Amino acid sequence: MNQTITLHVNGSAKTVTTDSERLLLDILREELQLTGTKYGCGEGLCGACTVLIEGKNVRSCRAKAVDVDGKAITTIEGLAHGENLHPVQEAFLAEGAMQCGYCTPGMILTTIALLNEHPQPTDEQLLRFMNGNLCRCNGYPKVLNAIHRAAGRLEKIK
Ligand code: FES
Ligand code: FES
Repeated sequence: MNQTITLHVNGSAKTVTTDSERLLLDILREELQLTGTKYGCGEGLCGACTVLIEGKNVRSCRAKAVDVDGKAITTIEGLAHGENLHPVQEAFLAEGAMQCGYCTPGMILTTIALLNEHPQPTDEQLLRFMNGNLCRCNGYPKVLNAIHRAAGRLEKIK
């Protein structure tokens, strides 16, 4: 059954008519052309499709679009302001925390959700929060350094 919903994506209201079973990931990529949100496993296991909904990290491959009707959604495209990157993007860039980059949007958005919840996370909080975000290039040490940098903790992890 089709439903008309309004998604507040990166500060803009987007009205779409969609099948009630359709996934948020499909709407973002195919209807709104926000292809920075990646399709990885499609099963909620890799974190590549992570977006923020009301500031919390959500796997868009498991969320039905109709369930986030009216909610504020942030994708990777919504973070920079013109030439000015978001501090977490800057931290990832400064630490070289990306190789192929496929996991990077999800990593960055999950980091923002982590820092929303724990502005100065302990290593345990950090590892528990980021645990479900996979990087097939095995770039974890630099990702962790970027998160520490973003949190204002510049000490490098081993
Ligand atoms: S594509 Fe959504 S968690 Fe892997
Ligand atoms: S940088 Fe390639 S998957 Fe993480």
